[in-house]
Amino acid sequence: MALPEAFIRELVARNDIESVASSYVSMKRRGRNLVGLCPFHGEKTPSFNLYPETESFYCFGCGAGGDVITFIKRIENLDYIDAVKFLASRAGMQLPEEQVDDKTSRLRMRILEANREAARFFHSQLSKPEGRIALDYYRRRGYTDATIRHFGLGYAPNAWDELGKHLRSKGFRDEELQAAFLTRRGRNGGSYDIFRNRAMIPIIDIRGAVIGFGGRVLDDSKPKYINTESTLAFSKSNTLFALNFAKSTGRELTLCEGYMDVIALHQAGFPNAVAALGTAFPEEQVRLISRYADKVNLIFDADEAGQKATRRALDALKPTGIEVKVITVPDGKDPDEFIRKNGPERFRLLLERASNAMEYRLMRLGDRYPLNTADGRVNYLREAAKVLAQSSAVEQDIYAGRLSQELSVSKDAILQQIRQAAGRREKQQKRQELSRAVKQDMTILRRVNPEAETFPRAASAEETLLGVMILHPDLIPKVAAVLSADQFVTSLNRDLYAYLLQRQSQGLLIELPFFAADFDEASMAYITRMVQAAKDRAFTWEDAEKYIAIIREGQVLRGMKQPESLQNDQIEDILRVMRDRKNKKDI
Ligand code: UTP
Ligand code: MN
Repeated sequence: MALPEAFIRELVARNDIESVASSYVSMKRRGRNLVGLCPFHGEKTPSFNLYPETESFYCFGCGAGGDVITFIKRIENLDYIDAVKFLASRAGMQLPEEQVDDKTSRLRMRILEANREAARFFHSQLSKPEGRIALDYYRRRGYTDATIRHFGLGYAPNAWDELGKHLRSKGFRDEELQAAFLTRRGRNGGSYDIFRNRAMIPIIDIRGAVIGFGGRVLDDSKPKYINTESTLAFSKSNTLFALNFAKSTGRELTLCEGYMDVIALHQAGFPNAVAALGTAFPEEQVRLISRYADKVNLIFDADEAGQKATRRALDALKPTGIEVKVITVPDGKDPDEFIRKNGPERFRLLLERASNAMEYRLMRLGDRYPLNTADGRVNYLREAAKVLAQSSAVEQDIYAGRLSQELSVSKDAILQQIRQAAGRREKQQKRQELSRAVKQDMTILRRVNPEAETFPRAASAEETLLGVMILHPDLIPKVAAVLSADQFVTSLNRDLYAYLLQRQSQGLLIELPFFAADFDEASMAYITRMVQAAKDRAFTWEDAEKYIAIIREGQVLRGMKQPESLQNDQIEDILRVMRDRKNKKDI
């Protein structure tokens, strides 16, 4: 997709990476660069680096890296075009017209339109005789007509092609419906509806667009739910069900497990309930939550899976500083069942009696040890100290006091145990972070440029040379005169070199923010890293020649290791290099 160069140039000029990133990451100046805790993964020691001179960033902890557009893509969870739009609006710039209707965003629009029409269709079934079965189902669950309307609930008929037929009659094409995860192509080439004979719950984003659906069976058959899978308009990991309603209720969210819990809570007068549509709590979702909430109540099912989800959510939310409370619903019920049985007032009491994260952890831990025996108390306190070691001094003091009373152990002894645990933990964490950083680096390398591992010397020469060329584009024609792209040993570097040559010959700017349209995020991180590494080197043309020689040698090596990868003229090249080498030795 082509964005006018002048536009991107101005966009980047008006969004310097330092001021953009500072609104997400707090950083300290270190020499010419800035460092801070990486916003893309949880860490204790800062490994997120910002390089104002090259307008780029790189995290040595998780390998995230790139230019300002890549940064916004990742942190705001947007695709390239939307990241550009985001930065444009941040800088008060008007977007040039033509890129708005590029192919992907057009298909995305069509998906949203198809979804909206589908939601209308499903809802309208409820007033037909065939939809009676779903209406009865909702009524049995205690939903009022107002609730059904509010959430736009509906029914997918018990037929193979009703929705498809309807949407095609409204002008939607099969490809669009398939891309929307509404229909599938059958074996006979025909089209069939994915949601059939199900209670349909539209998933609506914060702008009010229907981005997907959850479809529940009306009986006990399996699978209980079918949910929209990833489409251009929907990704589970950056969606919270009912956030469209909850977002304007204040800065407190109640996070539950399922659609039905959320609907029941809204109806009972708790419109800040949302559901995560999964229990993984990926970073995107955590970011979404922290954009809308300072306080979160976790209210998951009382079963083992729900407890696991609670622990995961606590861990995921911890770095955000959001105040988290955990609500335990008694008798193994989910919130929906609890409210139906006990009413909203009793539920409000549960909310008020919620425990904070630390109380919850200590309580769970307490369940595992017999606190009436000395051994049980010793073991419990050892584990509790580990948990408390991660908290603030004030918290440590408060809970050490409480535990001291509850278990009749001196507060000083407990505090001392906490300090020891904290020391061990810190040491262990540092080691883990280091080894993760090293591993991460290798993983990126392997993924984006796999041959670099086989030909490390050549790859590193390629990277230095490329980094230097990006920093000093005037070197490109000089290198181009003596080195062709197919002499590069590793494929990403080869592609990047060819790309540089092409941009240079078209008179286009050689700057990272332009690359982001043509390279994926992992490659951008890799490229950023090589530019940054090259920046710290003094560089002369002799150095360049040295690197070119190493690349040629690498080519020889590759020829020997992977002869099938070579073209005829490359073989001639190699033979020439080998002859040169022999002559040099002879001298
Ligand atoms: P639950 O099994 O607790 O369902 O799954 P529920 O929402 O309480 O529904 P009822 O009360 O039994 O009718 C919790 C959530 O997990 C997801 C859904 O988002 C569901 O709301 N889920 C569950 C699925 O996506 N697929 C399934 O098959 C089951
Ligand atoms: Mn339920």
